[in-house]
Amino acid sequence: MPSFTKLALSALAATTAVATGINDFSCKSSFNPVVLLHGLGATYYEDLNYMQYWLQTQGFCTYAITYGAYDGFPFLGGLKAINESAPEIATYIKEVVQKTGKSKVDLVGHSEGAFQALYVPKFEGVAHLVDKIASIAPPTHATSFAGIYNLAYLFGNNSREAVGEVLNTLGCPACHDLGPDGPAINRLNDGTPIAQPGNSVTIIASKYDELVTPPSTSFVHEEGVTNQWIQDTCPLDPVGHIGEAYDLNVWHLVKNVLASTPDKKFLCLIGSPGK
Ligand SMILES: *[C@@H]1O[C@H](CO)[C@@H](O)[C@H](O)[C@H]1NC(C)=O
Ligand SMILES: *[C@@H]1O[C@H](CO)[C@@H](O)[C@H](O)[C@H]1NC(C)=O
Repeated sequence: MPSFTKLALSALAATTAVATGINDFSCKSSFNPVVLLHGLGATYYEDLNYMQYWLQTQGFCTYAITYGAYDGFPFLGGLKAINESAPEIATYIKEVVQKTGKSKVDLVGHSEGAFQALYVPKFEGVAHLVDKIASIAPPTHATSFAGIYNLAYLFGNNSREAVGEVLNTLGCPACHDLGPDGPAINRLNDGTPIAQPGNSVTIIASKYDELVTPPSTSFVHEEGVTNQWIQDTCPLDPVGHIGEAYDLNVWHLVKNVLASTPDKKFLCLIGSPGK
C-alpha cells in the first residue's frame, strides 16, 4: 500500500464520525446504495477502499465485493473473463437492492471495474436496478497499453511471485478481454448503445493516465453521457491511473455524480497524492 494512502487515512480518521463499515445492509441514507467495483488485480479492500470510507463520511451507504477471483486466490480479483465476472457483479447488485430495500443502486467503478459498470447493465439484465454510474478510467474502446498484464501487479498486498504464479497457472482472461480487439471490448462496442435507458452515465478520466491509453479511449460518445477530464475541474491535478482511486479531487467528482450535484464546486487539491 503506497505510503500516501496512510497519510490520507490519518487525515480521514480525524473527520470520520459515522462510518458504517462496508456491506452494512442496515445502513440508512437518503442516497442510493453505492456499489463499488475495483480494478484488475485488486480486491474490494484495495483500490477503491479509501474512496469508499470517504463516501461513508459523506452520507453514503457503500457495498463492495471482490469479483473475478479464482478459487483459492481471493486476494487477486478481476482476472476472470469479463463475461464470467459480470454475472457475479449482477448477482451482487440484486442482493444489495434486495437487502437494502431500495429500488436502485449507483455504481462506481475504477479501471476494469469502470468497464464492468458499463458492461454489466448492458448485458446482465440489471440496468433497471441501476441509477447513476460513475465510471473512472474504463478501457471502453480498449487500451493500447501493451502490458495490461502489469495491471495485475499494481495493487497493494500481492507479492510479485504470488501474482506471477496465478497468472502463469490460471491466466488472465480479463487482460485479453480488455486489450485491442479483446472479446469484451468488441462486445461492449457492438454498435448498440453502451448507456442503457434509465442509467445516467458519467465517465471520469485523467489526461495523464499512463495505463489506459490513449486516455480518451474511456469516453462514451453517446447522447446523455457526461464525459469529463479530471483536469476540466482541477487543471493542476497530475493524477495517473492508479492514483485516480486515491485522489480527493476524483472523490469529489464522484460524489457530485452520486449526489446529482454535477456543478458543485469543491477545493481542488494541488499536487494531489494520487499520482
Ligand atoms: C466469454 O468470453 C471469452 C473471451 O474472454 C470467450 O472465449 C467465451 O466464449 C465467452 N463465453 C461466452 C459464454 O460467451
Ligand atoms: C495479504 O494477503 C495475505 C494472503 O496472501 C493475507 O493472509 C493477509 O491477511 C493480507 N494482508 C492484508 C493486510 O490484507
